Amino acid sequence: MRFNPDFYLSNQGVSNATDTLNLPRHRWYYYKEGFSPYLVEKAIESCELQKDDIILDPFNGSGTTTLTASILGYKSIGIEVNPFTAFLSSSKVKNINKYSYEDGLNLVLKGINTGSESALKGFSTFSKTTKTKKWLFNDEVLDSFAGGWNISDNIQIGDTRQIIQLALIIAAMKNCNATRDGKCLRYRDGWQKHNYSKESYLSSFKAISSMIIDDIIQCPILSSYARIYNGDARKILLEKEIEKFKLCITSPPYLNTFDYTDIYRPELFLGQFVKTMKDLYDLRLQTVRSHIQAKWDNPICTNFGYIYNNYIKYINNHKSELMNRRIPLMIQAYFEDMLSVLELLYSKAEKNAQLWFVVSNSAYANKEIPVDLIIADIAKLAGWKLREIGVLRNIKRRKTKHSPDISFLRESVVIMRK
Ligand SMILES: C[S@@+](CC[C@H](N)C(=O)[O-])C[C@H]1O[C@@H](n2cnc3c(N)ncnc32)[C@H](O)[C@@H]1O
Repeated sequence: MRFNPDFYLSNQGVSNATDTLNLPRHRWYYYKEGFSPYLVEKAIESCELQKDDIILDPFNGSGTTTLTASILGYKSIGIEVNPFTAFLSSSKVKNINKYSYEDGLNLVLKGINTGSESALKGFSTFSKTTKTKKWLFNDEVLDSFAGGWNISDNIQIGDTRQIIQLALIIAAMKNCNATRDGKCLRYRDGWQKHNYSKESYLSSFKAISSMIIDDIIQCPILSSYARIYNGDARKILLEKEIEKFKLCITSPPYLNTFDYTDIYRPELFLGQFVKTMKDLYDLRLQTVRSHIQAKWDNPICTNFGYIYNNYIKYINNHKSELMNRRIPLMIQAYFEDMLSVLELLYSKAEKNAQLWFVVSNSAYANKEIPVDLIIADIAKLAGWKLREIGVLRNIKRRKTKHSPDISFLRESVVIMRK
C-alpha cells in the first residue's frame, strides 16, 4: 500500500469548498461539505481523458464535479440523494439566454412585490406562531418568496424557470433567521434585529440574479452532457443503465454522525422537494448510514479487513465511552454501504478507469478510526487496485468529552484503478 503523507495536493485546501465562493456558477450557493473544483481538475489531468469519456460522481452534492467537468467540456454524470442539491447541481450546468432570464426576472419581481400567502406559515418552526420561541423566517419573507415562486410557474422555458426558482430559494436562505453551523441550524446573533422583510428579500433576489446573469455570460458550459440523477447512489448504480466511466471523483458523507438531509430542511420545504416531516424522514433513510438518528436497517456484512476488525473490537470493548450505543452499528453499516458502492462502481468502470475517493478519519471512544486505510482494504475486496492514499490535510478538531485526546483528523484521497 502507498500511503503518502507528502501527496502533491496536500495542504492546498482541495478537500474544502472555500474557493467556490469566488468562482463563477460555483458561487451561486455555498455548500460547506463540498470539495474544490481544483481537485477535480487535477484528477482529470492525471487521467488523460478524451472528450467522450465519462466523469462520474455518485455523491455529487452541490455538483462540483459535474460543473467542473461541464465547464471544461467533458461529459459527466452526478448522483445525489438530496433533491435540493440535485436541483442545484443540475441548475448550475445549464446554458440559458440572458434575455430569457431577464424576462422571467421581471415577472417574478412583480410576484414578489404582490406576495402570496405562504403554505409554510404555521408549519413547524418555519414562522412565528404562539408556540415558537424562534422561527426560521419572518412572515413577510415567506409571503414574498411564495409570491415569486407561484408566478415563476408561468415561465415557459424550463431551464430558465429552474434557475430562477433556485435564485428564489437562495434569496430566502439569505433572509433566514438561522444559518448552518456544523451539524445544526443556528440562529444568527441578534437574529430578531435583522428584521428580514420584503425589501431585504427583494434586494437579495436581485443581487443573486445579477450574479447569475454575469456568470452565464462569462462562464458558458462547454459540454451539454451532464446527467444528474436524484436518488440513492446504491440504487441508481444498480438499476439505471448509466454509461461506463473513465474517472470517478467523489466524496461520500464522512463517518461523523452528521445528517446532511436534516440541516437542509429549509431549502427542501421551500422548493417543495418534501412536503411533510415523513417525506424528510424517508429521505434520511435513503442516505448513506453515517448518522445515528434515523432508524435504518441493520447491517449484515462484517468482512472489511484486518484494520476494521481491530478497530471494531476496540470499540466494542469501550462501549461505555461512546456518546451513543448505536455507534458500532453505524460504523459497520457505513462500511457495508461503502463496500456496496465500491463494488457497483467497479461494475460501471471502464478498463483502466480511475477512482478518487475523498474521505476523512473520525474518532470514537478516544480512538481515531482510519477510514482511508479501511476504504483501501474494502476497495481491494471490490476488485480495485490501490494506487495511492494521498493525505490532503490534518484538520484540527475540537476536543470532545468522548475523545479528549484526539486533536487532528486526517482527510485523504484514496486513488484506485480498475
Ligand atoms: C461530502 S458531500 C459531497 C459534496 C460534493 N463533493 C460537492 O463538492 O458538493 C456527500 C453527499 O452525498 C450525499 N449522499 C448521502 N447519501 C447518499 C446516497 N445514498 N446516494 C447519493 N448521495 C448521497 C449527501 O446528500 C451529500 O450531498
